Amino acid sequence: MEFYEALRRRRSIRSYRAEAVPEKALSRLAEAIRLAPSACNNQPTRFLFISDPEIRRRLCACYPRAWLAAAPVIVAALGNTETAWRRFDGSSAHVIDTSIAMEHLVLAAAAEGLGTCWICAFDQQAARQALRLPECWEVVALTPLGFAAEEPAEQSRKPIDETIERLA
Ligand SMILES: Cc1cc2nc3c(=O)[nH]c(=O)nc-3n(C[C@H](O)[C@H](O)[C@H](O)COP(=O)(O)O)c2cc1C
Repeated sequence: MEFYEALRRRRSIRSYRAEAVPEKALSRLAEAIRLAPSACNNQPTRFLFISDPEIRRRLCACYPRAWLAAAPVIVAALGNTETAWRRFDGSSAHVIDTSIAMEHLVLAAAAEGLGTCWICAFDQQAARQALRLPECWEVVALTPLGFAAEEPAEQSRKPIDETIERLA
């Protein structure tokens, strides 16, 4: 799929078919994540592609939605607070770095004809415990991954002149 078409066609998908995601598509998505830029190229991210039933059960308890539990793959996007670059005020770039890689995944999935949905409204501490992660790893976002069982309408966006300003 052409890049701008993938941008236009991406939607947050909240209904999934049971059909497995092809291994070749998973490999291409992994490469899209790997290519993401990060501050100072520190690459403080790790993405878990979860199909293990017990881990999924624990993770879904942190965000109990049937559509998440039904997706063939659940992806957890992790950021490392110890290895991420820090701004001069000490704040960590791990959320920015992880979000960039997450959006690479989301757009690559759209290009593959696969659905995703950014999820941040979960209990981060509980998710870290569900995944048995040490303190340095923050679960920045989750997404289901699979073939969509719905075609949601396009959500509205602000007009360009409220979003982009040209200072020429
Ligand atoms: C940072 C972020 C967090 C989000 N968290 C959630 C969430 O917890 N649950 C959910 O159902 N959707 C979540 N969304 C999806 C948004 O609701 C969705 O992107 C927005 O309504 C626009 O719809 P669209 O993605 O179909 O264009 C999140 C999106 C972003 C970018």
